[in-house]
This record gives sequence, structure tokens and C-alpha cells, in this order.
Amino acid sequence: MPVVRWTSAFEIGIPDIDEDHKRILGSVQKIHDAIDGGRFDDCAELVAEFFVIARGHFEREERILEGAGYPHLKHHAARHKELLSMAEEVGEFCTGLKNRSGARECFERMVSFLISDIVEADLEFKSYLEDVGLVERPITVPK
Ligand SMILES: [Fe+2]
Ligand SMILES: [Fe+2]
Repeated sequence: MPVVRWTSAFEIGIPDIDEDHKRILGSVQKIHDAIDGGRFDDCAELVAEFFVIARGHFEREERILEGAGYPHLKHHAARHKELLSMAEEVGEFCTGLKNRSGARECFERMVSFLISDIVEADLEFKSYLEDVGLVERPITVPK
């Protein structure tokens, strides 16, 4: 079962960022499937993979936002950091450093936080990027 299906509502309009977000969701899906199937041994490796993808993305995104003079960059970067530590925790649960039964619960918290990053926080900077003209604002037809 898919955790999150990619929809155009998630689109920021910067291809590098959109591709990263898709890869992140794909990686989260793999972790979900591993936990769901009780394949905790795979899970640790998948979380490590998530780290590489997410860290690269966050750095890219923060660089773009810095270049655009985004006023809430500090706060946004703090969320990214929090997300990485949540992923780390999921990895620890999976490798049995902590109770494995906690992996699912922790993963769910991670997913909802991730979605709030992509859907809420990233969409907030999307409107900023539109305001400064870095991303084209879709034309809305008045009703
Ligand atoms: Fe993002
Ligand atoms: Fe973000």
C-alpha cells in the first residue's frame, strides 16, 4: 500500500526540488514496506539510503532558498534537521538498538513530519519564490 502518492499539488515548480521530493517519497515507501513486512534488517539500510537522499535534498533546497533571500530559512533548516534526527531514530528502532515494535510508530511520526515539510513548509516558500519571480505563478482564471 502506498504511504503517500505523489500529486501535482506537491509541485514546487523547480525541477531539481520536485525530483528530490519524488525520490524522498519513494525512499519512504521502501522503508514502510520493510517495516510492514517485518524486514527490519533491510530497514536500517533503507534508512541510511533515505539519509543520503534527504540530506542532499535539504542542502540543495537550503542553498536555493539562501540565494533567493528567503526570510524563514533558519526555521526551515531547523525542520530539516529535526526530520533527519527522526529518521535516525527510525534506523535505531529498526536495528534493534531500541525496541523494534517502536519502529512503526516512530516511522509514522517521521512520515507525517515529512509530509508537513513537503506540503506545508515547502509550499510556503513556493509562494515566496513566486513573489520574487523565481517560480512562475499559475494563472488563475477569475470565476
Ligand atoms: Fe523539500
Ligand atoms: Fe524543505
